[in-house]
Amino acid sequence: MKLLVTGGAGFIGSNFVSYMMKTYSDLSLVVYDKLTYAGNLANLEDVKDDPRYTFVQGDIVDLDHLNQVMAEYGITHVINFAAETHVDRSIHGGAKEFILTNTLGTQMILDAVRKNSIEKFVNVSTDEVYGSLELDSNKEFTEDTPIMPNMPYAAAKAGGDLMCHAYFVTHNVPVVVTHCSNNYGPYQFPEKLIPFFVFKLMKNEKVPIYGDGKNIRDWIHVHDHAKALDVLLHKGVSGEVYNIGADNERSNLNITHMILDIMGFGTEQIEYVTDRPGHDRRYAINASKIRSLGWTPEYGPKQFHKGLEQTVQWYKDNTNWVEDLWNKKKNEMNAFQEKIEHSDTKMDVSKRID
Ligand SMILES: NC(=O)c1ccc[n+]([C@@H]2O[C@H](COP(=O)([O-])OP(=O)(O)OC[C@H]3O[C@@H](n4cnc5c(N)ncnc54)[C@H](O)[C@@H]3O)[C@@H](O)[C@H]2O)c1
Repeated sequence: MKLLVTGGAGFIGSNFVSYMMKTYSDLSLVVYDKLTYAGNLANLEDVKDDPRYTFVQGDIVDLDHLNQVMAEYGITHVINFAAETHVDRSIHGGAKEFILTNTLGTQMILDAVRKNSIEKFVNVSTDEVYGSLELDSNKEFTEDTPIMPNMPYAAAKAGGDLMCHAYFVTHNVPVVVTHCSNNYGPYQFPEKLIPFFVFKLMKNEKVPIYGDGKNIRDWIHVHDHAKALDVLLHKGVSGEVYNIGADNERSNLNITHMILDIMGFGTEQIEYVTDRPGHDRRYAINASKIRSLGWTPEYGPKQFHKGLEQTVQWYKDNTNWVEDLWNKKKNEMNAFQEKIEHSDTKMDVSKRID
């Protein structure tokens, strides 16, 4: 397999690259990434000297460049992680970049996949495209749940997913779309909940919780997500959507209590802050379709505490990783804070991230 991994320098993409390189000796792999504020070559340090691996800096919106790279490296399979991913940025910083990358960028990949006769394209997407479930219901998202995104981030992802469907029906492009739940694990950009809270607590600062903290997410270890994507690259049926989740529903408050406990703090360390506009209450994934292909998560609900403990420990052991990241990305982070100060939905990003 000659695999192109777009967005491979981010959190999930880099974990996936590491998993694939360890699993397949005959793989050749090209990471194609724009290196936005969220892209970090340090995430790919383990593979950088491997002769099977190449890095190309590029934007998925640039169709000519995508075509050139696919042809030059004889790419046979493509997986797309490239996205603007931070929900708060899509609300407070404007949605244009989200539409460009998440919708238009996905369509450019589809055009390149078509032109270069790619055997399989997996477009990595999110359960957030389904919108929200009621807190007190026991409903789950299935692949047939209507697409009803509530945030600009999720709407832009849904746009890309719908393009995948249209290209399959119209042009017979061999594409599979995934809808995965919230990921945790190493190398996550520290504006997201778990690393954000860990680094706050390491500085003895309070951890801010939106609203009442009862919002529920379905958490999956990034290693299990990588394994699921590998299964779909090999066995996913073109034109189909697959949900990915580990049956691990947790409220934000529950996760926070676990992190506080692991790090030796009490609940006095919590600060409740004004809720995010359009904050979805509950996500829950029915993953029986991908399970029927033979995939099972190693970190289910019973192993969640262990997975979280290992993740917290990884961030504690890798403070250099985060310090280097902040130093490299300082300008982008400051520019975003400035944008927010001039926006009509003001918030202090240092206060609350999810
Ligand atoms: N993090 C989660 O919990 C989660 C859950 C479900 C689905 N997803 C999806 O998984 C994918 C990866 O998420 P993540 O958390 O690793 O994101 P991330 O923000 O950590 O990484 C995104 C990567 O994409 C790159 N990128 C952004 N715009 C690009 C462009 N125009 N061209 C090329 N590269 C570009 C960035 O440089 C970065 O390396 C996204 O599509 C996201 O929607 C994430």
